[in-house]
Amino acid sequence: MNVQGALKVGRVYLRERGIGSCDIDARVLLSRVTGLDHTGILLNGDRVLSGGEREDYSRLLERRAEGEPVAYLVGGKEFMGLDFMVSPAVLIPRPDTELMVEKAIELLKEGKINLLVVDVGTGSGAIAISLAYLVPELLVHCVDISADALEVAAKNAELNGVAQRVKLHQGNLLASLPQELLDKVGLITANLPYIPTEDIHGLMPDVKNYEPHLALDGGADGLDLYRQILPAAQAFLQPGGHLLMEIGPGQGEATLAILPEETWQGKLYHDLANRERLVVATKALAV
Ligand SMILES: C[S@@+](CC[C@H](N)C(=O)[O-])C[C@H]1O[C@@H](n2cnc3c(N)ncnc32)[C@H](O)[C@@H]1O
Repeated sequence: MNVQGALKVGRVYLRERGIGSCDIDARVLLSRVTGLDHTGILLNGDRVLSGGEREDYSRLLERRAEGEPVAYLVGGKEFMGLDFMVSPAVLIPRPDTELMVEKAIELLKEGKINLLVVDVGTGSGAIAISLAYLVPELLVHCVDISADALEVAAKNAELNGVAQRVKLHQGNLLASLPQELLDKVGLITANLPYIPTEDIHGLMPDVKNYEPHLALDGGADGLDLYRQILPAAQAFLQPGGHLLMEIGPGQGEATLAILPEETWQGKLYHDLANRERLVVATKALAV
């Protein structure tokens, strides 16, 4: 079988098993086993696959047909134009989360806050590492409760050449941060689990069966961890500093409502599809 034929066979195999993204998935998996990039696949249609490549490709197609996400099968995902390694220990970074990174960069570039960021629930490190890469002076402290996730974040910091400005801490919310950061942090990015517990069973099988539930379940209304983090976030942020919380559609009003008016000013942002996606809570200047 040649490259062109393999692409066609893979596409049909996945389509017949109900995989909507069969075209792109077959191409990405074929690219993985042959080492050819997108253009390489187009230009090398006649190249014959070796026996080993054919076997690897069939195995990956079978796993994809079972619902395993492509990012886990190939071990990587692009985010903010950068390459991230992913494993089943971490959530696959979502394009929706790029809004948080863009907003954080906008706030940092205003020049009113310290170039000191905390990324809580760092997972693969997608947010923290993108920020460190795109804002050269920035120092980022990352926290995750999962040691396995932090191992992936460490590799990604190396991979993207920012390990020197990315510090990793294991712990619950902000409990493991050094005390010398109190009152100094310019901005906290938090993409903590925000899916209401009872919605987890209705998630797509790719997500529900393969991604870590520790990264998804946000308690009864999805906002448990955001409620819990507020006092410590208030303590670590400098006056006028910002806490950025990713949310799901329909959680905007409820998230604004958890912010005590005397200490926080909240603002809701929508993503490109006009869905509620982000709340920026700014610490009052005089508390
Ligand atoms: C939704 S994922 C976000 C991952 C990554 N920041 C991203 O945007 O792709 C949430 C992350 O929060 C971590 N987490 C869950 N509970 C936590 C807690 N109490 N303290 C710190 N991290 C927590 C999970 O291990 C997971 O890596």
